[in-house]
Amino acid sequence: MKNEFNSEELLRRVTETKVSTGNERVRSITKRVVTDLFKTIEDFQVKPEEFWAAVQWLSRLGASGQAGLITAGLGFDRLLDILEDEADKRAGMASGTPRAIEGPLYIAGAPKSFYEARLDNGKMPGQLVVMEGVIRDTDGNPLSGALIDVWHANENGHYSHFDPSQEEYNLRRQITADQQGRYRFRSILPPGYAIPPNSPTAELFELLGRHGNRPAHIHFLISAAGRRALTTQVNIPGDTYIDDDFAFATRDGLVVTLETGASPAGYESLGIDGPFTRIRFDFKLQEAVNGEDAKHLGRYERAAG
Ligand SMILES: [Fe+2]
Repeated sequence: MKNEFNSEELLRRVTETKVSTGNERVRSITKRVVTDLFKTIEDFQVKPEEFWAAVQWLSRLGASGQAGLITAGLGFDRLLDILEDEADKRAGMASGTPRAIEGPLYIAGAPKSFYEARLDNGKMPGQLVVMEGVIRDTDGNPLSGALIDVWHANENGHYSHFDPSQEEYNLRRQITADQQGRYRFRSILPPGYAIPPNSPTAELFELLGRHGNRPAHIHFLISAAGRRALTTQVNIPGDTYIDDDFAFATRDGLVVTLETGASPAGYESLGIDGPFTRIRFDFKLQEAVNGEDAKHLGRYERAAG
């Protein structure tokens, strides 16, 4: 009867059998996850057809490229930020601008410019906006030469690279701050957007009775020598979903103020010749703890090492 066993013995064999050392951390975490899933299946008496429907959903999720989207909707992305914030507090680190989730739509390699950039191509409908400010350390000193990646959705709530209808790197730029740590860019105020309909993520959210809307926001990845790289986003005020984000990414310190009717004087180099909406926002970067956290990397590049 050596090959007949109950679920407890099966779990033991799955999680404890090994022919090589493997990786102890991966083994321990996998053991915990599989143990919890075994228990979930038993407690809820999950039927085979339910289990295989879930596996098929996971396969479709992976094929759709939405694995990094569902994590946000199920709170994992914000959880990681909460845990980092708590670790900083325990370590007594001076806090900078609040971190916020990267989301799955960052891509490296955006066109570079010095001090200022124009993100829009002049053909898009929407409210003309200039966002500007200073990149500082936690004592308020400007960080000369800080690197700012900025990216946001177009008027339909879609991102270039992932949306084939847009030009390459549309609404994506990498700006190097000037000697005073200043940056500025011209663009169109982005709208909020929703998870793609008829997608694996939308399917699950329908079953959970949850909406899939994100309030309007602009993403940033900012770094400077000796400072910890900051991934964050700012929120546009007035959005219906600002306090009810699908991805739980709104931070109270990241809701900007819109100054309407700003004078075009001094903004001619951005092609502005009439009143526009201005956002002023300074970012503060924490001190780097090690060389790794100062690297200007998106989450997948950072995970790849
Ligand atoms: Fe986004």
